[in-house]
Amino acid sequence: MSAEKRGLFVTFEGIDGSGKSTQMQLCAQALEAAGHSVVITRNPGGTAFGLELRQILLHSTQTVYPMSELLLFIADRAQHMNEMVFPALAEGKVILCDRHMDSTLAYQGYGRGLPLATIRELNEIAIQGHKPDLTLLFDGDPAILAQRVNNRGQADRLEGEKADFHRRVREGFLELAQLEPQRIQVLNALEPIEQLQTQTLQHVQNALKHCLVS
Ligand SMILES: Nc1ncnc2c1ncn2[C@@H]1O[C@H](COP(=O)(O)OP(=O)(O)OP(=O)(O)O)[C@@H](O)[C@H]1O
Ligand SMILES: [Mg+2]
Repeated sequence: MSAEKRGLFVTFEGIDGSGKSTQMQLCAQALEAAGHSVVITRNPGGTAFGLELRQILLHSTQTVYPMSELLLFIADRAQHMNEMVFPALAEGKVILCDRHMDSTLAYQGYGRGLPLATIRELNEIAIQGHKPDLTLLFDGDPAILAQRVNNRGQADRLEGEKADFHRRVREGFLELAQLEPQRIQVLNALEPIEQLQTQTLQHVQNALKHCLVS
């Protein structure tokens, strides 16, 4: 990373209930208190158009083929990069994004069984060379983490998948982290919230050293 780089793009990844939203909020509060300009966003659904796609992706009752699902996630990502991420990076902001390219590889690739090479290619088209600077992967046993979100009511299309699917997704995330150990930092999602908060902030502060941020 060059010293001229503007903004910081951080993604929060992990299976349902792993604590992504919790840690994103805490991280944003700490960064704002330190005077940074922070944008909180998500895939899918970080833009108005993306929200429409999110509704279809998570709640459609129609038969959705895995490739159709993949292409809609990619469409959301392309919209989001152009509308949210690139402008925020240009303004030197810190972007905290709930799920991104690694979720697509983990869920549609390792989970649904679509070819990883195809997903990588489509991700590249959507992100135009702008991978996250830092990815925090909250990892833990899906059976334990599912218990945290079981009381939320009706599960969405992906949450409703069987236990074996979530195990494959978890293993997929871990494999991705092994492939890119610099970018993807693995945190133990079963540790207490405060401990994870400290670790999250340390990783972000470390990444901030290499960026020009406002
Ligand atoms: N480290 C933790 N220890 C115990 N409980 C936690 C921890 N982190 C989060 N929780 C609780 O677990 C639940 C799920 O957390 P959270 O919503 O942050 O997960 P998530 O990864 O955003 O889930 P989803 O993918 O479904 O949006 C919440 O009730 C939260 O308070
Ligand atoms: Mg969440």
